[in-house]
Amino acid sequence: MRILVTGGAGFIGSNFLTRYVLRHPEHDFINVDKLTYAANPHSLTKVALKPNYTFVHADIVDAERIDAIFEEYRPDAVVHFAAESHVDRSILDPRDFLRTNVEGTFNLLQACRRIWKRDEGFFHHVSTDEVYGSLGAEGLFTEDSPYDPSSPYSACKAASDHLVRAWHRTYGLPVKITNCSNNYGPRQFPEKLIPLMITRCLEGRPLPIYGNGTNVRDWLYVDDHSDAIWAVMERGRVGETYNIGGNSEQRNIDVVERVCELVAREAGIPESQLTSLITYVPDRPGHDARYAVDASKLRDECGWEPTETFTTGLEKTVRWYLGNQEWVNQVTTGEYREWVSRRYPEAAKTV
Ligand code: NAD
Ligand code: DAU
Repeated sequence: MRILVTGGAGFIGSNFLTRYVLRHPEHDFINVDKLTYAANPHSLTKVALKPNYTFVHADIVDAERIDAIFEEYRPDAVVHFAAESHVDRSILDPRDFLRTNVEGTFNLLQACRRIWKRDEGFFHHVSTDEVYGSLGAEGLFTEDSPYDPSSPYSACKAASDHLVRAWHRTYGLPVKITNCSNNYGPRQFPEKLIPLMITRCLEGRPLPIYGNGTNVRDWLYVDDHSDAIWAVMERGRVGETYNIGGNSEQRNIDVVERVCELVAREAGIPESQLTSLITYVPDRPGHDARYAVDASKLRDECGWEPTETFTTGLEKTVRWYLGNQEWVNQVTTGEYREWVSRRYPEAAKTV
């Protein structure tokens, strides 16, 4: 089978490719990625020279280029990771989110229609639990939860989910959608909560907590997300949506305190020195209060369950960042430093 993966140089896509290119030499994987600030080709060193892996540098917004790539490689399946993924960036500058997440998805769906007859091939759309909006103190998102996105990022992801479903209903394109909760693990760009806090602990810089720190996220170790996607590709039903979650709800302040504890232990820094860096900053506009996911459909139909707990996954993650400062240095370029000082002016002042 020829599997075209978009966004495979990003955090989750590179994890997915590293796991499955090596496990499945009988399949060919074609990675189509624009290499935005969030990509890191070094995350793919284990597969870069494998005969069943090809990298194609391209922007999914460029419809002509995407059509030509589909014509050349004639994939049997598409796994669509490529997106602008960071909520705070979507608030400050939403245009690229619309272009990549909506128009880019549209271009891929059209390219699939061009090369596949009705009911041929399949398109796996990687999406987020943020499309459902915010939960109150009780309850879980199910696949039947109404869409109610809060940020430009989640609105664009919601739009892309709707496009994918419409292409299935209208044109008979075989699709599957997965909506996953917050991922963490090695090689995540240090703009997201957990790697941001680990790297700032090591630099002795303020740890910015939005609002009062009581917002809740459900955390899933990235290997488990990759395996869930593969399970849905193999065993999920066409036209269906599957929620993916870690069964691991945490308040942000508890996550950050746990990061401080682990970095202190692993790097031999007094924990109080790190917790004293915690700084409350103005809240994210439209900040969703709580996400929590019911992943029982995925468990019952595809036999998937997470293998890491938050404790084991976070330990692995902290150790990885401590042992891979070079990877961190590669991504924390001028653009990254500019973003951090634009996003956290209050926290920066106290350094
Ligand atoms: P990421 O930001 O780390 O990586 C995104 C990748 O897409 C990068 O390699 C980037 O170069 C590429 N890309 C961006 N725009 C592109 C374009 N126009 N053309 C081609 N490539 C482009 O993202 P991630 O965290 O790995 O997320 C991957 C997918 O999973 C996204 O669709 C995201 O919405 C979804 N998701 C992420 C999480 C999470 O916690 N990170 C949770 C649930 C779902
Ligand atoms: O739920 C899945 C989503 O998880 C994915 O679809 C997104 O691509 C991914 O970025 C993530 O979105 P979040 O907004 O939940 O992740 P982030 O790491 O930005 O923030 C996690 C929580 O931590 C959130 O409640 C905001 C808070 N936060 C974040 C940052 C970066 C802070 O308090 N301080 C910070 O500096």
